Amino acid sequence: MRYKLKQIYCRPWTLSYLSVKLIESHYENNYGGALRRLNAITEELESLDFEKTPAHVLNGLKREQLLALNSTLLHELYFASMGGDGQPTKSMTDILGRDFGSLDRWRAEFRAMGYALGGGSGWVLLTYVPGDGRLINQYAADHTQAVASGVPILALDMYEHAYHLDFGANARAYVDTFLRNVDWPALERRYEDAAKVPGLRPLEQPEFGDIQGIGVEEVKEMMAAGTPVQVIDVRPRASVSRQEDIAEGAQWRDPEQLQQWIGELSKSEPVVVYCAYGFHVGCKTAIKLREAGFDAKYMNSGHSGWKAIGHPLLRT
Ligand SMILES: [Fe+2]
Repeated sequence: MRYKLKQIYCRPWTLSYLSVKLIESHYENNYGGALRRLNAITEELESLDFEKTPAHVLNGLKREQLLALNSTLLHELYFASMGGDGQPTKSMTDILGRDFGSLDRWRAEFRAMGYALGGGSGWVLLTYVPGDGRLINQYAADHTQAVASGVPILALDMYEHAYHLDFGANARAYVDTFLRNVDWPALERRYEDAAKVPGLRPLEQPEFGDIQGIGVEEVKEMMAAGTPVQVIDVRPRASVSRQEDIAEGAQWRDPEQLQQWIGELSKSEPVVVYCAYGFHVGCKTAIKLREAGFDAKYMNSGHSGWKAIGHPLLRT
């Protein structure tokens, strides 16, 4: 396949304090150069006999392909990032406030990251992370450094070729100029597109109907806050004896002997049960407790989840 050139988004003659000569050179030589490299590498890869290609040759080509592909994508976003008046929209002000504390706090970090790359090279990206449903400012030392699953929506090119013609070594002036030229309405539209990208699907356990799960972090917060909750470890006896530890604040009860200990529980406080990984034993026990009239939930990820978040453990 052949990758195709994208039209430049920003109109170079409208940008304040960034010369047409600089933008043209950047687009034609650096973006265009990356695209030409990408197509040459892709063509070479398509002609290879993979059975006979030495590993180091394939490794080198695939690395160069990634560099060239990401370079084209990031340059396209860079040119799409400018062309505006630098005035944040109300919606983006609110979104950045949500994720960074305030618009000023976001801008201070983004700008400082650009300053910090002066004299070096790389990218500063505002990236949406679907799994977390939030934006982060991301550093990239070269074209290949990308947040897995992230969707960058604003790109600041900190390679010298992006500013040296106009600003010499004064990277700070370039960063400030970039921010004065951000096209915020376009950025808002890219955010809206990115926010539609779903994160990794949560685990579904249709065999247990609509039984509700609760996250380990949420349970930990309830316990730390002193919220009344009965946390019951229902790992099978064999599992407990093998692992020899239990989450602090939890009581172990044998899931095979439910009828012997169900009477100890209070119906006026919620019950959280968990097994080793949050699958069958925890779910089944929670279902039985709900049938008996308790406000019971199973805890996602189970005992393994407790350990993964570093919750204190006691020896059994
Ligand atoms: Fe560039």
